[in-house]
Amino acid sequence: MAFLTSGGDAPGMNAVIRAIVRSCIYNNITPVAIYKGYDGLIQGEFEEMNARSVKGIINKGGTFIKTARSSEFKTKSGRKKAYNNLLDSSIDALVVIGGDGTFNGAHIFNNEYKIPVIGIPATIDNDIFGTSHTVGFDSALNTVVQAIDKIRDTASSHNRLFFIEVMGKDAGHIALNTGVAAGAEEILIPEENLGLRRLIKSLKRSKNTGKSSSIVVVAEGDKIGKNVFELKDYVEKHLPDYEARVSVLGHIQRGGSPTCFDRILASRMGVKAIDSLLKNKAQVMIGIKNNKMCLTPLIEAVKGKSKIDSELLRISDIMSI
Ligand code: F6P
Repeated sequence: MAFLTSGGDAPGMNAVIRAIVRSCIYNNITPVAIYKGYDGLIQGEFEEMNARSVKGIINKGGTFIKTARSSEFKTKSGRKKAYNNLLDSSIDALVVIGGDGTFNGAHIFNNEYKIPVIGIPATIDNDIFGTSHTVGFDSALNTVVQAIDKIRDTASSHNRLFFIEVMGKDAGHIALNTGVAAGAEEILIPEENLGLRRLIKSLKRSKNTGKSSSIVVVAEGDKIGKNVFELKDYVEKHLPDYEARVSVLGHIQRGGSPTCFDRILASRMGVKAIDSLLKNKAQVMIGIKNNKMCLTPLIEAVKGKSKIDSELLRISDIMSI
């Protein structure tokens, strides 16, 4: 059995790897790490692991087996090389840890070569159908909330308006959750188009009701302005009373030690992946729903769309009066 991490890294990936390796050893399966995602699969960068190979990593961010976004794996010839490498090393199953791009690759690979594959969702974006939480999401939320709290200090000292851009690709989960948790005045996400007029109206109301500083959390995928800098210019032009600044949090959101929640989720998902393989359940993604582990066919995980939490949306509306 071999495993790899692919796509953007996420805190907790190391904890998943640890769980897979230890669970394999526990069940007398030989775990093989593939370095650098699908690129390493094509280049044959394999290493057999033992229980001690994964010591001291549960608390470490990133992924010690490295990750990549492979363009070669998108080609038929790349996948053929990858399959031949698996055959040469007598590897009979693959666990892939990553996001939707990773699962799409695994799904195509399985269709072509019938190698059993299992997906474990690990991305800070939480944009995967079939699970309420992906590994890394909770850690990223905590990193972002800490950053916004700090920005709030300086925003209120200077009576400023801050636009804080957070990651999330095309999804607004990070923005919505951190916006509510950090008490943002407005939250802009791609799933809900607030519209520039409403934003201006709401910021005006904030000023009139005595707010001296404001925080607007903007998901990177939001299309209300062309980008967060142009949005800031637009707002300053229409609300000259505001002194505005932009802060793009960027890749700090992907780093750092995983939270307790992510470490436990990662451990549960890693063990569930090996249990599932042992029960001949493959072409599935491991997920969590209502705190229970569950399986979703990989094809559904790839094609489905994660939904934004409508209760949180309503809460954010009520809180921003
Ligand atoms: O999918 C994780 C993610 O961090 C997204 O939130 C973001 O859009 C993207 O990856 C950034 O990718 P890169 O590290 O290639 O710049």
